[in-house]
Amino acid sequence: MIKDTRLILALDVTDRHQALKISQDVKGYVDAIKIGYPLVLATGKDIIGEIAEMVPVIADFKVADIPNTDRLICEQVFSAGANALIVHGFTGSDSLKTCVEVAEVHGADIYVVTEMSHPGALDFMQKVAEDMAQLASNAKVAGVVAPATRPERVQKIRSIIGNDIAIISPGVGVQGGSAADAIKAGADWVIVGRSIYLADDPKKAAMEIAKEIKDAIDQ
Ligand code: XMP
Repeated sequence: MIKDTRLILALDVTDRHQALKISQDVKGYVDAIKIGYPLVLATGKDIIGEIAEMVPVIADFKVADIPNTDRLICEQVFSAGANALIVHGFTGSDSLKTCVEVAEVHGADIYVVTEMSHPGALDFMQKVAEDMAQLASNAKVAGVVAPATRPERVQKIRSIIGNDIAIISPGVGVQGGSAADAIKAGADWVIVGRSIYLADDPKKAAMEIAKEIKDAIDQ
């Protein structure tokens, strides 16, 4: 993934026309667009390729199954045109290895969830987040997903994975996280959904967050 604005749009709209319009509008201001179940279930998997023609697509399906089923899912997602896929790590090293193998065949990337950005992540996920980060690092994935809502956890996860793999960080804006703080804590990219796609002018909103990120880096 190119590292330019260091901003990823989470495009959780359910209308095909709106999704394509926003993708066109923010092109050049985001490095990737993350799409998931809301958009794909509403419009069909062809939307993956349609958006990927404009901006690289990260498919957020949080894949979590046995290796054979993971393989079947990965093949569908990458054949549809996704450049990257988010998967869970708790299913273990064999499931993750399968996802990485299929991604390699397609020249695509895998990102592994560590600790999610919402409060409920403290119930179970935080206890194993550091193990997930280590697992992801061992599997040589492209990166992990870590919470912008807890910059200190981004920093901790960075200390575990080192600088060889990336951190993409959701939770900015509506969930309360700050793009600047996440970047300063060690995130390579921040992921922003509602603060951009619900804005009156999504392009302007994306530009403002990209500027906040640039200012944080330049400090
Ligand atoms: P908002 O609207 O809150 O959207 O900016 C955030 C987007 O990111 C997803 N999300 C996560 N994905 N690990 C993930 O893999 C996480 O910890 C996480 N937290 C939020 C969310 O589904 C939405 O698309």
